[in-house]
Amino acid sequence: MGEALRINQKTGLKGTINIPGDKSISHRSVMFSSLAKSPVRIKNFLYAQDCLSTVSCMRALGAKIENDNEDLLVQGQGLNGLQEPEDILDAGNSGTTLRLLMGILAAQPFYSAFTGDASLRKRPMGRVITPLTKMGAKITARRQSRFLPLSIAPVDKLTGIHYNMPMASAQVKSAVLLAGMFTEGSTTVTEPYVSRDHTEKMFETFGVKLNRSGTSVTINHVNELTAPEVIDVPGDISSAAFWLVAASIIPGSELTLSNVGINQTRTGILDVLKQMGANIKIINERWSGKEPVADILVKSAELAGVSIEAEIIPRLVDEIPVLTVAAMFAKGETRISGAEELRVKETDRIKAIATEFTKMGGVITETADGLIIQGSADVKSAACYSYHDHRIAMALAIAGAAGQGVEIQQPDCVDISYPNFYETLDRLNS
Ligand code: S3P
Repeated sequence: MGEALRINQKTGLKGTINIPGDKSISHRSVMFSSLAKSPVRIKNFLYAQDCLSTVSCMRALGAKIENDNEDLLVQGQGLNGLQEPEDILDAGNSGTTLRLLMGILAAQPFYSAFTGDASLRKRPMGRVITPLTKMGAKITARRQSRFLPLSIAPVDKLTGIHYNMPMASAQVKSAVLLAGMFTEGSTTVTEPYVSRDHTEKMFETFGVKLNRSGTSVTINHVNELTAPEVIDVPGDISSAAFWLVAASIIPGSELTLSNVGINQTRTGILDVLKQMGANIKIINERWSGKEPVADILVKSAELAGVSIEAEIIPRLVDEIPVLTVAAMFAKGETRISGAEELRVKETDRIKAIATEFTKMGGVITETADGLIIQGSADVKSAACYSYHDHRIAMALAIAGAAGQGVEIQQPDCVDISYPNFYETLDRLNS
């Protein structure tokens, strides 16, 4: 049990923040590099617990991964060069590590097994096991093949499928596409709405052509991955989101967020905050490989409530906790619907948001698939629980900084995606 952390009210946030590397892209950069033959230098890799879970799994599968100052150097053994791990692979808290690696390992001629932490052991894995099984994978898991721990038996080959995904999920889509590269035929996934496309872009970076049309992606058999010498990971817009909201709602703030990934499958937060009246400027637009990057200027502004519906949810799925904070400080009501996926994140985020922000004076109604938040809340100090969920902890911190402080129980989980989060918040105190 870590000690509770007290965050005090803050006034006008000023300064520049270098946004840490994107979590989704960091995972993928290590996995893909481990499946190539030539060495890859990964710059701005996110050294946070989730991505380190991927590094340790890839090492256990035979990749050589070293640090060179801030960079990560990966030497893979080729597409068919993974080795049977000697022990159970531990994905920790990381759904991305587990689900993407399941796609890769389902196609291997060796045995592997996975576990994870208490949160990951409660999260649904049937969504990945179902399509992979249709492709011929042999996966067994606890509680009717739905939960960790799980094991993957050796197979000779998988068969391509066309899979209509019941939910928009980049992790499920990626698992099927990664397995798809090992099949003889072609594999297509169709999503109800487009989720983040970092896997697709990473395939292209490694020389694999995909067919993309609407919400469908098709991959054909891949012979080898051709690695770039360097991958420069953009900053994570999901981490920048905390500062976008903090600067918007704390009067007198003016922040520059540098090196933020603005892939359009991730920028729902910018669209919604702008619609709420936020003062956000995107400058210095550039490319980092196939990913678009920019700096973002944000100044405080009066916000108004909005309606957020199913179609945009995949483009801001991880930002709902901090968007709730924006909504509490906005004028009028904010309604979020079509967000039932939040119930199966690191914790049930719909329940966690409603329970904890209500303790701070928020007027929030939990619905089956979302939240209704009354604005202009009288936000007061309270002792709140993070549920060991990094994004709940950081959203609580921003609510406390904008309101009258907060005590966060189990604060250390921010290490999952943003190890320097509290230090950065401290530094911005004017
Ligand atoms: C991720 C996809 C999303 C997101 C998670 C990272 C990824 O999950 O919530 O934080 O890297 O592919 P789902 O695919 O379950 O929506």
